Amino acid sequence: MSGPRGEIVDLPAGTGIAEEVPGRQSPWAARPTPTRGPAYGAGSAIICDNLVKIYKVAELEVVALQGLDLLVEPGEFIAIVGASGSGKSTLLNVLAGLDTPSAGRAIVADHDLGAMKVAERTAYRRRVIGFVRQQTAANLLPYLTALENVEMPMLLDGRSRRTRRQHARELLDRVGLADRADHRPDRLSGGEQQRVSVAVALANNPPVLLADEPTGELDTSTSREVFAALRAVNTDLGVTIVVVTHDPLVAGHVRRTVAIRDGRTATETLRRDTTAEEVEAHGETIAEEYAVLDRAGRLQLPREHVEALHLERRVRLTLEADHIGVWPDGRKREEEDR
Ligand SMILES: Nc1ncnc2c1ncn2[C@@H]1O[C@H](COP(=O)(O)OP(=O)(O)OP(=O)(O)O)[C@@H](O)[C@H]1O
Ligand SMILES: [Mg+2]
Repeated sequence: MSGPRGEIVDLPAGTGIAEEVPGRQSPWAARPTPTRGPAYGAGSAIICDNLVKIYKVAELEVVALQGLDLLVEPGEFIAIVGASGSGKSTLLNVLAGLDTPSAGRAIVADHDLGAMKVAERTAYRRRVIGFVRQQTAANLLPYLTALENVEMPMLLDGRSRRTRRQHARELLDRVGLADRADHRPDRLSGGEQQRVSVAVALANNPPVLLADEPTGELDTSTSREVFAALRAVNTDLGVTIVVVTHDPLVAGHVRRTVAIRDGRTATETLRRDTTAEEVEAHGETIAEEYAVLDRAGRLQLPREHVEALHLERRVRLTLEADHIGVWPDGRKREEEDR
């Protein structure tokens, strides 16, 4: 495999977590099969492979993404969470083609974001991804109606007036706003504006939708409506969705939540429906948190675990039949005691 991390020896390929969606033809299904086992992320809608993004501000370098690995399967709907400054927006901006990777690879629907020329980048932003921002005002043109806003990306892509009108109406209907088509943004609530923004983002049928805190300025009940609109387009149209959020409502309703810490994926929380026996004890779903094991076998221990056992610098690992033990460095303690 090419790229800047040739020294890394891959672990055996893992199993995908994406759910099978009956009747949905994946646009990535026809990729050629590699001869020497599947490449990292083969078949994924989004592949981040040791992704690095460095911003230079005067003499200072800010490493916003520090070797981030992430795979998102076609048709998946994932949430990304993390503290302020952890790199969430940076990741989305790179995936949206608004920023270029400093190192590593980012591939979305077979488009290599590090290798795109200007014209390809413009086409990519127009057709391959849809983007919804937190600020409603950044998503919509204030002097156009909801319908005209949804038509705008299609107009830029050269589609006929009839197609534009029909498709825009369909999309507004899908996000539950058929009756608001003729309203300008200032005559729509914040939640309605964000649902129109989802329709605008999907105007040119992109396979991937990225949303950066789309419910950040909304209250709980309107957030719920925006989330329902995202859920609907994910289920009905098979759009792959990555949503950055601080909203527990959103993070609590997707199958996979990826937590980013210091520019890297740190943990993943997977949710599954409970079996009949489990419902009483756990409710409708069970959430299980996992540490992320990267391709070289590295994992990040949760800060609480490190602090609870005063782990520092070195730990001892023991391989047991079904788990690995992590022990404080006993030798260091003995040295201190002496
Ligand atoms: N254009 C830029 N120029 C310089 N530094 C930047 C730029 N954009 C982001 N950064 C820095 O990169 C780091 C990650 O920022 P980012 O905006 O991705 O965080 P975030 O996780 O989205 O945070 P928040 O939850 O506050 O939105 C921060 O240290 C930030 O200051
Ligand atoms: Mg941000």
